[in-house]
Amino acid sequence: MTRLIFLGPPGAGKGTQAQMLASDCSVPHISTGDILRAAVADGTELGKKAEAYMSAGELVPDDLILDLIQERLAQEDAQMGWVLDGFPRNVSQAEFLIKLLEKIEQPADFVVNLDVADEVIVTRLLKRGRADDEEGVIRHRLEVYRKQTAPLIDFYRDRQQLVSVDGNQPMEAVYASLQAVIRS
Ligand code: AP5
Repeated sequence: MTRLIFLGPPGAGKGTQAQMLASDCSVPHISTGDILRAAVADGTELGKKAEAYMSAGELVPDDLILDLIQERLAQEDAQMGWVLDGFPRNVSQAEFLIKLLEKIEQPADFVVNLDVADEVIVTRLLKRGRADDEEGVIRHRLEVYRKQTAPLIDFYRDRQQLVSVDGNQPMEAVYASLQAVIRS
């Protein structure tokens, strides 16, 4: 059973690595960014509320995210494990998740922090060209990451749940490092 959380700046490769691992472990890859983008594309109430925050590179308010993650983790396919990507994004989301996982008796195995240099990130994301991959927005997402998400590195280190992987390498090399960390 695999229950893993990916942390890291935008463009670190969380989605790429989480998807490969989830597929190898036959558990769902749960990405709050993907769920929100689908909601925006479908024009749902959630999508309408989230869209402006996402295009500006701001975090969507917690009250839109917490129910969403609770409902997703309650679904049938998540009962035998999951790989979380993009959640939690701040300390209050992390505290919520810890309580939720205790309540549903599904503790996370550990938290993988993908370490990547800023300039590598900017180059990768400009090449991808998603709606929020414009240089000004990318740099703002990095600022938001540093202020709101990076404190989770110490948060999970203090809980002795953190492992770090060098995400600057090519995708396959990152995945090999990740597997080595998981095995150990
Ligand atoms: P989200 O979708 O989570 O975006 P992000 O964190 O900015 O992450 P990215 O998808 O840009 O990067 P990634 O680390 O997943 O890298 P990826 O594998 O895609 O969030 C988007 C927005 O939604 C947020 O700004 C916010 O508004 C909102 N949101 C989401 N979750 C939220 C939450 N919990 N609370 C509040 N708001 C929330 O790779 C990126 C690119 O690099 C790809 O093109 C990939 O092919 C390439 N690449 C990956 N790995 C490598 C490698 N090793 N070498 C070369 N290229 C690589």
